[in-house]
Amino acid sequence: MNVQSNRKAEPLLRNAYDVAAVRRDFPILSTKVNGKPLVFLDSGASAQKPRQVIDTVREVYEKGYANIHRGVYYLSQHATERFEAVRGTVARFIGAGSPDEIVFTRNATEAVNLVAQSYGRTFFKEGDEVVVSEMEHHANIVPWQILATQIGIKVKVAPIDDYGELILEAYEKLLGPRTRLVAITHCSNVLGTVTPAAEIVRLAHAKEIPVLLDGAQAVVHAKVDVRALDADFYVFTGHKLYGPSGTGVLYGKKAILKKMPPYQGGGDMIGHVSFAGTTFREPPYRFEAGTPAIAEVIGLGAAIDYVEGIGRERIGEWEHELRDYATARLSEIPGLTIYGKARNKAAILSFSLDCAHPHDIGTILDADGIAIRAGHHCAEPLMDRLGVPATARASFAMYNTMDDADALVASLVKVREMFA
Ligand SMILES: Cc1ncc(COP(=O)(O)O)c(C=O)c1O
Repeated sequence: MNVQSNRKAEPLLRNAYDVAAVRRDFPILSTKVNGKPLVFLDSGASAQKPRQVIDTVREVYEKGYANIHRGVYYLSQHATERFEAVRGTVARFIGAGSPDEIVFTRNATEAVNLVAQSYGRTFFKEGDEVVVSEMEHHANIVPWQILATQIGIKVKVAPIDDYGELILEAYEKLLGPRTRLVAITHCSNVLGTVTPAAEIVRLAHAKEIPVLLDGAQAVVHAKVDVRALDADFYVFTGHKLYGPSGTGVLYGKKAILKKMPPYQGGGDMIGHVSFAGTTFREPPYRFEAGTPAIAEVIGLGAAIDYVEGIGRERIGEWEHELRDYATARLSEIPGLTIYGKARNKAAILSFSLDCAHPHDIGTILDADGIAIRAGHHCAEPLMDRLGVPATARASFAMYNTMDDADALVASLVKVREMFA
């Protein structure tokens, strides 16, 4: 089998995007795995961290750490200022109207659960409906199912077509008198499909239905402007955005957050506590019970600064080149099927080989130092729709190169030779 790259020399400086310089910022990329240089193609699960983020977190712990919002002493006030500054950074990053619309959570999953348990449990009644899509991550399915068992709502599912695109007409038909919320992904973690979020919102708002967008993948790959989208809620997670784990964001329109009761109770979210009754702080603090991930949120701020310093458009263009190159190269391999052919697609490539199970593919690639994901990708209903138990997935990030795609293809050719 001859699956050779006909690519010319690796253009490390392309479109003024200096991927070699980007790579130097990520210490882990110069390590070896199984004696081979690491080829990391699982950033869709969690991205690697640049030195700027690692240094910021270390510097907080070494020189600037204390609990926030409560100390009268210098370290506490300084940490509070830095933590709160990130709220402003995040607001600017996603185009929110005010830092007060940014709630820090542990991750995107917690942000969806917050909306389900606070907004949903308060404003939905038995028989009301939440519309999701067939390509949701479990994080945007299970919280609604839990709410369904608690108060009897129904979860309606908007279908996708064989290209992996949301069928807008079918989605619109699901928006009925009992629909209380649309909760749909802005980018599929399996298919890479970037959904027409503005249109999804427009159709829902025409029927006065609010919309939650799951931006866990989208916010990494493209510029997001929540006000231009007119999203009512937008959630994402810090660790996929090159930031520390343990950080997530719920954006909510101020007027909606103000109507929502607390999700969890405890320190930091109260106005006054007595056994006769307790008052709560205004949003976003009302939703942030207990000590947050202080150094990690400050590290998230450093991650956003880093991404903005390189430029989201430039990162996006580079990732599109990687997507197109990797798609073309993978397509050369006999018996390989790529899932998801949306017109607007991020650099996330799910695939299968006719001769080997995705877990075998993942294990053999690992021996070559290549990290990909194999499994259902926390999207089992989507696997059912695709008619497969699992797929392999290579997800590309700002630090990947055409060489990485070539290494992936070379290793997949080996898998074929072993199993075919
Ligand atoms: C589209 C999407 N939504 C939500 C999540 C959940 O993110 P987290 O586990 O950080 O909460 C993921 C993670 O893979 C995702 O890809």
